[in-house]
Amino acid sequence: MTQTINVLFLAAEAEPFVKVGGLGDVAGSLPRALRALSSDKVKLDVRLVLPHHPVMRADAKPLGIFSIPRGESEVQVEAFESSLDGMPVYFISGEPIQASGSVYSSDPKLDAEKYSFFSLAALELPRQINWTPNVVHANDWHTALAAYGLLTKRWEEGTRKIASLVTVHNLPFLGPDVSAILESYGVKLAQTDLPEWARVMPMPLGLWASDAIVAVSPTYANEILTPEYSSGLDEFLKSRRETVHGILNGLDTASFNPAEDSALGVNFDIDSLEKRAENKTLLQERLGFSVEPETPLLAIVSRMDPQKGVDIALHALRNMRHSRLKWQAVILGTGDPKLEETALKLQADNPDRVRVETRYDAGLARQIYAGSDIFLMPSRYEPCGLSQMIAMRYGCVPVVRAAGGLNDTVKHGETGFVFEEPKAKALADAIRGALKDFPDHDVWQKIQRAGMMQDFSWANSAQKYLELYQSLIKNL
Ligand code: GLC
Repeated sequence: MTQTINVLFLAAEAEPFVKVGGLGDVAGSLPRALRALSSDKVKLDVRLVLPHHPVMRADAKPLGIFSIPRGESEVQVEAFESSLDGMPVYFISGEPIQASGSVYSSDPKLDAEKYSFFSLAALELPRQINWTPNVVHANDWHTALAAYGLLTKRWEEGTRKIASLVTVHNLPFLGPDVSAILESYGVKLAQTDLPEWARVMPMPLGLWASDAIVAVSPTYANEILTPEYSSGLDEFLKSRRETVHGILNGLDTASFNPAEDSALGVNFDIDSLEKRAENKTLLQERLGFSVEPETPLLAIVSRMDPQKGVDIALHALRNMRHSRLKWQAVILGTGDPKLEETALKLQADNPDRVRVETRYDAGLARQIYAGSDIFLMPSRYEPCGLSQMIAMRYGCVPVVRAAGGLNDTVKHGETGFVFEEPKAKALADAIRGALKDFPDHDVWQKIQRAGMMQDFSWANSAQKYLELYQSLIKNL
């Protein structure tokens, strides 16, 4: 007999509809990877639900209008329907979603309203489409309240148990105080064993209510149990230790494939690594560097954010500017205006060595992965990280800090270079180590090949989620 598992998958963003960061990559590919695991034994009917952000391009048709109670009155919910490779995708709209133009607002009040409404409205959607989920799978604080809402619904209505799971992509974003909003929707604040300050926030409430917590890498799953990385929730998370899992994200290996990537000047793979050099030439030309095949080209492609340690990298490069070792460096990314300014200053002081592009440019990013030699990722914390995986797939050797998913994906001396301390000196030492190996083509190619040979596809990780769903359903 075939077991059917229905999964309501909720996220704030998902490729190809709307993407701001790594969450969008994951929510775009994981649900489809899960559906692709369907076999004679188990059918996975995963359906994706997203807010109908005003900024979004989505070709969706109206599905229906319903409402959820709020105070003495109610709020109207408009649902739309679309599909992606045969997967049903639903969009939810309503006044609180229309009120904020962007995916994430700089006004926490707008986001509090928007995502509380979205999480609660999404829980009502299955009834409207006559389909019952076995699992509600939420992602990050924006949708974590669905797990909480589900639990309180269960208490009140004595409904059939539906399992819930929250994937943690970025724990420090706990979400704003939503106590008044929840109350207005008739959702009571429970007596929880959370720290008092956390009892009004979406992420902690969702984690508290969920049957399983998934961190996006095994190392991050351990890190969030420690004071340094837990955003104050370590005692609580430790008490839930047996429900905390670490499942490494996969990569959309069809899209990130150097053999077929149309953004590249020259395509290549592990058997034609020599062609990669042409991409380096093209990149050096495009950036206005002198074309020097033997000069190592360092790269950063990142949001300009303290999380990513961009300041550490800029500091390290500044300290290395008098080094006898030759190098060039390209930095692509936008974000924190101060970091952008520091990066531009480094460029102004080192016009021969440093190029800074302060914008989001997916095409140039791919050319950098394909044409540069060394990829820097000195993150202060990194739940999973996708860029280091893309870099390795494109033969660009990563230098990373031993944090979260970086620690799980890069092996020092084998596929890249790993350092411990989030300090410029530690990074500079690691870069020097890489620069020392770089001129030896045999040694370097061995590292490149080891990185390119790794399997970063979603199949393994999706299988782990499937097993987790199955164990949750069994334990209901
Ligand atoms: C967040 C994390 C990043 C992770 C991504 C997807 O953006 O910062 O490390 O790869 O989510 O899970």
